[in-house]
Amino acid sequence: MSVDILKIVKETLSDKPGRRTRNAEGKTFYFVRYDDKSSITEYKRTLKGKYHMRTWKKKNSSNYGLWVCELETKTKPTPTAAPTTEPTAAQTALNGEAKKLRLFLSSHNFIIDLEPLKAIISGIKAKHNITLVGKTATGKSTLIKLLCKYYNKGYEEITCNPYQEAEEIKGKYIAKSNATKDGLNIEWIKSQVHKAIEGGEWLIFEEINFLNPVLYSSVYSLLDHNKKLILTEKEGEEVSNGGETVVFFTLNAGYGGTFDLNDNPAFKRRVQQTIVRLDYLTPQAEAKYIHDTKGLNKDIALVLCKFMDQLRKEKEGDASEYPDLGISITEAIADHINNGMTINEALEPTLINFCTLDNEAQEALREKASLFIKGC
Ligand SMILES: Nc1ncnc2c1ncn2[C@@H]1O[C@H](COP(=O)(O)OP(=O)(O)O)[C@@H](O)[C@H]1O
Ligand SMILES: [Mg+2]
Repeated sequence: MSVDILKIVKETLSDKPGRRTRNAEGKTFYFVRYDDKSSITEYKRTLKGKYHMRTWKKKNSSNYGLWVCELETKTKPTPTAAPTTEPTAAQTALNGEAKKLRLFLSSHNFIIDLEPLKAIISGIKAKHNITLVGKTATGKSTLIKLLCKYYNKGYEEITCNPYQEAEEIKGKYIAKSNATKDGLNIEWIKSQVHKAIEGGEWLIFEEINFLNPVLYSSVYSLLDHNKKLILTEKEGEEVSNGGETVVFFTLNAGYGGTFDLNDNPAFKRRVQQTIVRLDYLTPQAEAKYIHDTKGLNKDIALVLCKFMDQLRKEKEGDASEYPDLGISITEAIADHINNGMTINEALEPTLINFCTLDNEAQEALREKASLFIKGC
């Protein structure tokens, strides 16, 4: 039985005694998560007493629980407009202002705003098809897999590409090697989708905007409420699990060479049940993540993450030649710094040597980095 995560989040935010605690700085922490026992030791080591934690054992199961979440106020009140009485963290949360939720899942820190998480959880509950939209390395795939783990669900992952054939979704007949001379001895090879539906697993269509539109009709029935796979090629056999499978899509909007889902209303309607956007972390949150996961000095991490943030903003503007600037690049840079390189040196093998930057652009980026770092 999976834990009702939405209910727990709601309970946690409703100011229940025992569910909330405040540290010496007045920060409020909430507890909401379970995981296996082995990772708890790891969390405790990673967190080094910085966070409050609670562990518990699920009834009738060997699974231990731990979920720590931290609320941060997103917008700092300006001194002049500061209210005379500070709202409690719970009130702020309910007003939708404090919404950074930090999940620690299986030795993996994952940071997500409360609102998108709630939407996803609600979508899962409603058995919606759930689409996560965001730039490269904003955590779409990681989040889905963490959710699968949380709900104890296996998953099948299909990475879409324009050259896919319907048989990759539906399956196919192949001739067996021991075919007799009086007839073909054939065998049906199940697709990943088939296996997912049969086994009650969840399905992830990665980069759905790369799926060739001629295949949309192959997946229609799969996206309807009872999640049916109709094998027209196999005498119309139907595979279904009564809607147990949750279907996830990821897409990187505006990515070159992709298909526009808007062109096909029937498909769009099925995709458009729960759509959630993920964005890069703020420099402060990313720096904290890099400090927590890589042990990089806090100040250096902040300089690095502010620089990444600036590059990402420029990339949104006219600097489209920049490489992908996901958190995984920041992590790689942090590794080099931890191994004794300066920030400038660490940027070379990670950002500057990226192949679409020509010599001139590389030099400009190098200079920009030097200036930025000097200015900090
Ligand atoms: N919000 C986040 N919190 C923690 N780690 C993140 C976050 N977003 C991305 N990452 C990390 O960045 C890397 C790339 O994430 P990934 O899930 O592959 O992104 P996407 O699927 O959006 O391209 C992973 O190592 C992931 O753990
Ligand atoms: Mg991905």
